[in-house]
Amino acid sequence: MVQVLFCTAQKTIDQKVDSVLKLMTLDEKIGQMNQYNGDFDATGPITQDGDKQNQIRAGKLGSVLNVTGVAHTRTLQEIAMQSRMKIPLLFGQDIIHGYRTIFPLPLAEAASWDLPAIGKSARIAATEASAAGIHWTFAPMVDIARDPRWGRVMEGAGEDTYLGSRIATARVKGFQGSGLGNTDAVMACAKHFAAYGAAVGGRDYNSVDMSLRQLNEVYLPPFKAAVDAGAATIMNSFNDLNGTPATGNKYLQRDILKGQWKFKGFVVSDWGSVGEMINHGYAKDNYEAAMLAANAGSDMDMESRSYIRNLAKLVNDGKVELSVIDEAVKRILKKKFEMGLFKDPYRFCDEAREKQQWDNTDNINFSREIAKKSIVLLKNEKQLLPLSRQQKNIALVGPFVKAVRDNLGFWSYTWPDDTARIVTLWQGIQNKVGSNANLLYAKGCNINDSLKNGFDEAVAVAKQSDIVILSVGEASNMTGEAKSRSNLHLPGVQEELIKTIAQTGKPIIVLISAGRPLVFNWTADNVPAIVYTWWLGTQAGNAIADVLFGDYNPAGKLPISFPRTEGQIPVYYNHYNTGRPAKNDKDVNYVSAYTDLLNSPKYCFGYGLSYTKFDYSAISLNKTTLNAADKLEASVTVSNTGDYDGEEVVQLYVRDMVGSVVRPIKELKGFQKIWLKKGESREVKFTITVNDLKFFDDALKYDWEAGEFEIMIGGNSQDVKRGKVVWNK
Ligand code: BGC
Repeated sequence: MVQVLFCTAQKTIDQKVDSVLKLMTLDEKIGQMNQYNGDFDATGPITQDGDKQNQIRAGKLGSVLNVTGVAHTRTLQEIAMQSRMKIPLLFGQDIIHGYRTIFPLPLAEAASWDLPAIGKSARIAATEASAAGIHWTFAPMVDIARDPRWGRVMEGAGEDTYLGSRIATARVKGFQGSGLGNTDAVMACAKHFAAYGAAVGGRDYNSVDMSLRQLNEVYLPPFKAAVDAGAATIMNSFNDLNGTPATGNKYLQRDILKGQWKFKGFVVSDWGSVGEMINHGYAKDNYEAAMLAANAGSDMDMESRSYIRNLAKLVNDGKVELSVIDEAVKRILKKKFEMGLFKDPYRFCDEAREKQQWDNTDNINFSREIAKKSIVLLKNEKQLLPLSRQQKNIALVGPFVKAVRDNLGFWSYTWPDDTARIVTLWQGIQNKVGSNANLLYAKGCNINDSLKNGFDEAVAVAKQSDIVILSVGEASNMTGEAKSRSNLHLPGVQEELIKTIAQTGKPIIVLISAGRPLVFNWTADNVPAIVYTWWLGTQAGNAIADVLFGDYNPAGKLPISFPRTEGQIPVYYNHYNTGRPAKNDKDVNYVSAYTDLLNSPKYCFGYGLSYTKFDYSAISLNKTTLNAADKLEASVTVSNTGDYDGEEVVQLYVRDMVGSVVRPIKELKGFQKIWLKKGESREVKFTITVNDLKFFDDALKYDWEAGEFEIMIGGNSQDVKRGKVVWNK
């Protein structure tokens, strides 16, 4: 009855929101700010707060997470429609790298440097999820991560702010499609605001302490990019930042996000993070936690129950202004209006669409496409790869050859238990070679124990073969949330297995499945071919086979540096020079270096090989002295001088030689992914303006400074052609 009033009138969304708000009691408003996990079941257990369904009926819940499927969401929405205000629920879920069709990990997709493909992956995920009744994904994770010990490194776009920002934009646009209000769009949620990826020691949920300059320059831009791309929501984070938990952080949420950036969506807490401010030692109890979070600008409380239990009293006690509640509720209602849910709360509940999106062939085919693009070729001596399909005997050895679920990686729990649709490596290679080759198999060892009793069989199988493909890595539950690890070496006895097989003298190709950079120095130095395959999703086996047999020429480039050993972490390309820079890797004499370890990473940011070879000309610059309004055009000619057609990611880096604060030795400022036929050359041009030179100074002023700049272009962050310009104000 009430609902009719505010839906029929010809008003703007803001006016509609206001008219709804006027009709709501304080308790109903606070209900909108409350989100529970969806352990709902009509016959299910009663939770500690009593029956959640009755709470929906009483208007005490604005959103539910982890409820999927048209039938299930419809049931709950029907209950919401029995509430006095009939305000529809929002259904949220972590759709991190696919819903039904699982794509490569976000970090792996980042290795494609292919923004349209990354956007399409998010688009498909949104289409599938929205068809299953979901309105809102808790993605993309846009946390910059320079520490691979942190298990959630898999969930983001790696170490670089520029690449991370471009990918954040692509993902937000992909999830939200042509706009909220379309039934194939889900609300995006850029997370975790902010600096969660900089947890001390790479230990999940740990504290973060950094200068505001670094925060603004390195960690915040991907969030800003997400906001500018229209992200409907932001999730705050578990960590404290310089002593203030992000959830209770006014500087982050009110000053920057809602103030400077004019963010119009709403902020959801991370799971329980409002209540966790008690553990942080920042709030005495849930009453205080709710006060701090609400006042700091956290609009919705995920699962801590602090809001629903305390906000009414806080308002009555004068500790939280009614205007704070109203502002939060308006933000939430606005999104519900934009999603069209007030018009039709069941518009995402279409059984026919749900069915049509289930096992959709186009989506599955695309999963194979993006999986191929995500693969990084780390080493290929004597062009061992690609393989000929006519090999007589191919040995497939290792714990990942027949691994099934591990191909999906962490955050793929929306995948049901019908593992038959996951293409294993074994299956993918069989599909590729058919009866042309004889495939032999030995597991060799488990992923993470010390048993070597499978080694003999593996050696025997290797000896009977012409080539050995060894598939090793970390299990999918070893990287992800709460999966920080201090030892990043290949787990268990896998590297020993590789050494043992190498002794047979057979040519070896090592495939590494992982959600983060691992350490595998012996393999890197002794095995002729190495392919980093991450976790690639439902089509993993087919995609890897496409690469191994040359149907696809790999073009992936690392979005994060690979350390030589854990003691080198954090190692990232855009560091400062220091007052005593090492001249090279051997220089250790009173310079900034380790005496027992090289400074350079094992594999640098932006690195990745192709089956073909790309040569770069010297850089040509249209000007070497510029004024503020000038555009610098920097170009190189890239030539495919190898034997295959292929793609190359041409990367532009800039260094500001002298600044009022020190500047990194190089910073990515642009990239282009180009396709060159064998023998073809192309000029690749980048345009640089003073906007690309801006940074935060000590007073947090964002501007550029006149002076000398080094311009670098290359196929990775180390191997670059250089030029210099002077830019005058
Ligand atoms: C994670 C979030 C996630 C939420 C809901 C939390 O533990 O940190 O990234 O969206 O759970 O599943």
